[in-house]
Amino acid sequence: PRSIFFSRHGESQYNVEGKIGGDSPLSERGMKYATALPALITDNIGDAPLTVWTSTLQRTIQTAQHLSYNKLTWKSLDELDAGVCDGMTYEEIEQAYPEDFANRDEDKFNYRYRGGESYRDVVVRLEPVIMELERQENILIIGHQAILRCLYAYFHNLPQADLPYIKIPLHTVIKLTPKAYGCDEERYTLPI
Ligand code: F6P
Repeated sequence: PRSIFFSRHGESQYNVEGKIGGDSPLSERGMKYATALPALITDNIGDAPLTVWTSTLQRTIQTAQHLSYNKLTWKSLDELDAGVCDGMTYEEIEQAYPEDFANRDEDKFNYRYRGGESYRDVVVRLEPVIMELERQENILIIGHQAILRCLYAYFHNLPQADLPYIKIPLHTVIKLTPKAYGCDEERYTLPI
């Protein structure tokens, strides 16, 4: 059976600073994850063919850099666009846009950042990615928190309202094996 692997990029500089969005490079810890990732993947699939998909943002490309498989970058895999809040911390957003902050808490799936996107928008832009994923063999997606929540919810058939709260931790590979109904799941966390 074929498998779909999901991983967030390694810890980024913005993750360390608590800032959202942006296009920051990996932190030193994130680099260690990138270095450890190839062994985890080969232990899992041996010499079976695999294709690696990343976003266009450098933190996913850096995370994939030591993997020697064919790679593809997808603009549609870029992180949810936080618009005017891009590069801010949650505290800064709450200060600058208190109403928006409250609205997001009220309906996180539908809340659209000013000049940016909602989770609903992201689900729509991921449709071509999902169609291609359904046709492919083994794929490893190195992505972002909001993006992987949407893809994960699709494969596990989870309700929209729960989707923005799915836990997709850093430095963890999630392996999904589609079955006739639903998917089997395994998780591997690297102690980094
Ligand atoms: O903090 C990392 C991050 O990927 C941000 O870039 C993004 O805005 C956020 O997570 C998405 O998570 P949430 O929707 O819970 O704010």
